[in-house]
Amino acid sequence: MEPTKINFRILRFKPGRIDPPRHQEFELAVGPQTTVLDSLEQLKLEQDNTLMYRHSCHHSSCGTCACMINGVPRPACVTGVLDLGTATVTLEPLVGFRTIGDLVVDMRDFYGDLSEEWSGLRAAEARGGKGSPQSHQGPVRFENCIECGCCVAACPAVGGSDGFMGPAALAAIHNEMLKSPAKKTALLALADGERGQRLCRRALNCSRVCPTAVSPARHIADLRRMVSAAEGDGQ
Ligand code: SF4
Ligand code: SF4
Ligand code: FES
Repeated sequence: MEPTKINFRILRFKPGRIDPPRHQEFELAVGPQTTVLDSLEQLKLEQDNTLMYRHSCHHSSCGTCACMINGVPRPACVTGVLDLGTATVTLEPLVGFRTIGDLVVDMRDFYGDLSEEWSGLRAAEARGGKGSPQSHQGPVRFENCIECGCCVAACPAVGGSDGFMGPAALAAIHNEMLKSPAKKTALLALADGERGQRLCRRALNCSRVCPTAVSPARHIADLRRMVSAAEGDGQ
């Protein structure tokens, strides 16, 4: 199959140099397997080595490559360029975050709402096979959330002066609550705090864009039910 020429329209920003931000156009021939991240790497190597973007794993595990792709937050490494079906592909930094340069955003506030004390592991769905040693406690796997920030970028309730903690943090709180029932009261208070679930507008965008099917909106709905139940118990 002949490569297809795609026009990449990338929002450039370098404080003090490309400032205010502006779009820059690049042309690149891509194949059926080319991802947006592959394209960025090729553009950086061959056309402009000042292009800034983040990546690590290349397989939707590290969450670092997320950006706005044709206006939708997605991980660049698992987004096929031709699957987008557009002759021009527009790349911009995740909305709702401060841009450091080009497609790189400041994730510190986002990470700040995810406590390091919460476990990133859970029991795996897979059962140990015949060869599992007796002493084996059972397989574990990482939680689904890859901390990419796509849900936050899609959420209409984030970014206001009320400081909504956002869907990923609420999903993580609910996960932790299920794993550590002893922490339930404190975690529910956190979820129901001034920056918590009450600010969610139930738009469901977060679940739609999540690349790893965390379904943050479902976790928030469960938290809301728990808050209501706790209020009912207190009456
Ligand atoms: S359901 Fe709530 S958290 Fe999810 S995108 Fe909508 S407002 Fe944001
Ligand atoms: S909940 Fe989904 S969209 Fe949000 S940070 Fe985690 S993996 Fe990304
Ligand atoms: S490079 Fe790790 S999620 Fe895309």
